[in-house]
Amino acid sequence: MRPDRKLLLLSLPVVLIGGLVATIIGGFVIWRVAAHYFYPLELIAKAAPTQPIRFTHVTHAGQLGIDCTFCHRTVTEERTAGIPAVQQCMFCHAVIKGVEEDKASEIAKLQEYAANDEPIDWIRVHRLPDHVQFTHEVHIRRLPEVLGLGEDFQIQAVCSTCHGKIWEMEEVRQVRALKMGDCVDCHRANNAPTDCVICHY
Ligand code: HEC
Ligand code: HEC
Ligand code: HEC
Ligand code: HEC
Ligand code: HEC
Repeated sequence: MRPDRKLLLLSLPVVLIGGLVATIIGGFVIWRVAAHYFYPLELIAKAAPTQPIRFTHVTHAGQLGIDCTFCHRTVTEERTAGIPAVQQCMFCHAVIKGVEEDKASEIAKLQEYAANDEPIDWIRVHRLPDHVQFTHEVHIRRLPEVLGLGEDFQIQAVCSTCHGKIWEMEEVRQVRALKMGDCVDCHRANNAPTDCVICHY
């Protein structure tokens, strides 16, 4: 009887540790698979990157109410939305230098880029893998009807479907997974095509 009991006691920590390790590995695998095939954004989202200039959509798209398409000029016609060139910013900032110190110093940086004729290397926030084909144009054209936005909708209501309330963000961050399951779910719900070749070359 004695040796058995000893063996049992000895094996207890092994079983416990083994169980713990299995749980951790299993949990990790499930987490990775879930992050890949499903889309709880908390699992996959990255923090907003620190941009070369502290430009905010809160000032421009929020307070000033500048239309999204004024800066993202190709969004209604092309695949990509487009990021404005420095010259487009200088339309206003040749004159507007900023009142408060923190804003003025950031605007001064912008004016330096312009004076040196240097492009700003904005860090991309949303990026699909190369094997996926996404086009803004068709979404901007079709979503107002699909979402039932009515006749005189504002363009940002369309953008916010995928990008959230950009005009309230001090720093742009991704708020929707935009993973395959996310794309396909909306397509399925709205009779948009779900064949592989629609999204993959
Ligand atoms: C005054 C110009 C301006 C206006 C107006 C503007 N944006 Fe932007 N937007 C930018 C610039 C510059 C960037 C790149 C820097 C950054 O990410 O903050 C950007 C970045 C973005 C990004 C992230 C792009 C990426 O890297 O993935 C999204 C999404 C976006 N804008 C959507 C919008 C929407 C929606 C509106 C309207 C509500 C809007 N923008 C209005 C200038 C503008
Ligand atoms: C159906 C979802 C969806 C909608 C609606 C949408 N976007 Fe996007 N947007 C994306 C995805 C996905 C990407 C990343 C594309 C890639 O990496 O090829 C992206 C990327 C961007 C970018 C950065 C890259 C680029 O294309 O220049 C900007 C800026 C942007 N979107 C602005 C807008 C604006 C402005 C609107 C509204 C007029 C809008 N988006 C509406 C899904 C959407
Ligand atoms: C239609 C005019 C207009 C355009 C176009 C414009 N801005 Fe501004 N911007 C302003 C005004 C007005 C302010 C607020 C100044 C203040 O509060 O003193 C501002 C503020 C800023 C600030 C201070 C931080 C903030 O966001 O409040 C930065 C940085 C800036 N702009 C960069 C840019 C960049 C980069 C572009 C081009 C992508 C751009 N602006 C395009 C009018 C404009
Ligand atoms: C909010 C709903 C919604 C989301 C999210 C969405 N789509 Fe779409 N998509 C649509 C609708 C609606 C159409 C238009 C279908 C039609 O009428 O032809 C469309 C069309 C397309 C087309 C063009 C199909 C054609 O007819 O040529 C492609 C490609 C596409 N989407 C890719 C994507 C990708 C990739 C994503 C995810 C990153 C995505 N979509 C996310 C609703 C959505
Ligand atoms: C509406 C758009 C859409 C359709 C339709 C679609 N995909 Fe995707 N797919 C995506 C997007 C976006 C990604 C990249 C994001 C991700 O990894 O989920 C992706 C990623 C993938 C990947 C790469 C996964 C990895 O390991 O990185 C494979 C494989 C794939 N899709 C296969 C398919 C097949 C097979 C079909 C048809 C049954 C299909 N897709 C239909 C949008 C789509």
